[in-house]
Amino acid sequence: MTHIQAGIWGIGAAIPERILTNQELETMVETSDAWIRSRTGIQERRIAAREHAASDLALEAAERALEDAAVSAGELDMIIVATITPDMAFPATACIVQDRLGASKASAFDLSAGCSGFVYALDVGANLVATGRARILVIGVDLLSRVTDYSDRSTCVLFGDGAAAAVLGPVGEGYGVVAAELGADGSGGDFLKLPAGGSRRPASHDTVKAGEHYLHMAGNEVFKFAVRIMGDSTTRVLKKAGLSPEAIRWFVPHQANIRIINASAQRLGIPDEKLYVNVQRYGNTSAASIGLALAELSDAGHLSEGDYVLIVGFGAGLTWGSMVIRWGRGES
Ligand code: UT7
Repeated sequence: MTHIQAGIWGIGAAIPERILTNQELETMVETSDAWIRSRTGIQERRIAAREHAASDLALEAAERALEDAAVSAGELDMIIVATITPDMAFPATACIVQDRLGASKASAFDLSAGCSGFVYALDVGANLVATGRARILVIGVDLLSRVTDYSDRSTCVLFGDGAAAAVLGPVGEGYGVVAAELGADGSGGDFLKLPAGGSRRPASHDTVKAGEHYLHMAGNEVFKFAVRIMGDSTTRVLKKAGLSPEAIRWFVPHQANIRIINASAQRLGIPDEKLYVNVQRYGNTSAASIGLALAELSDAGHLSEGDYVLIVGFGAGLTWGSMVIRWGRGES
């Protein structure tokens, strides 16, 4: 079988209008703007309107990505939605998006890899493009506000809502996905989880009363894992790509905490001008975070044909993923 190189044809994002500031959080829990800024780098985050669910933001991001790629919904072969906050357990949010887009030719499924979801979905999609599925829509979307306990100061200051989408298709030799590295360590699953509402702990009066439908996190453990894995995975993916860090134009890490980003960048010797950071404006948007950063870079005209971009994420699972992409379509 001839190998088909897969790349990003177009990208788009969607963020809710409503801004939740640190000052507002000061009125909700025992915290301060100074603590949140110094411990996380976050100044504000976006919260989806009450009537909106994951598919609403996903649809908006998808429409932008399709327009950017000059692809119509009817041409799509597959839709993959990375999310841990789907509209509901089933049907898959990807199927809801498929219907609303009118992507009648596309198969559709959800993928659960926490904040690594966008990288995971890009890798799955790129490998399927390589086997002949021509056009794949990948979406990373999370509304973590829906599973956040706004009386728990150790988590409620961190998260925000958002969506990002990318259209994948064949690109010229040397372009698109150059290398990827995914992994999981399920032994750390307890460090970041939503305990109830699944088949282990079905929803009941007791689970709701115990707050088990909220996200629970051992922040310190996730922090240590994140700093270690961002460095290790980045090093491994660069080696696979046969590139030195100097060859990379943009490092786009998962936007969880400025201290995690800076510690990883320092370890890898990445200069500030190559590091993309928007955590101050959105907080941690989970599966949307990396795609949202890429969409902003693209919209601002900061991504040129031929640029090498390195994305790296970590999240619930625990999972991680990194990827080197050579931007543009080349001579496809
Ligand atoms: O995408 C993956 C998702 N998860 C993450 O990326 C999270 C990774 N972890 C982190 O970002 C950090 O661990 C946190 C930001 C969650 C916490 O920062 P930390 O420096 O690890 O703080 P800590 O948990 O060690 O807490 C230090 C102190 C504690 O008080 P005591 O016990 O020292 O008196 C906390 O109770 O800070 C307190 N604290 C707060 N104080 C004010 C925790 N949250 C807050 C808050 N405002 N919002």
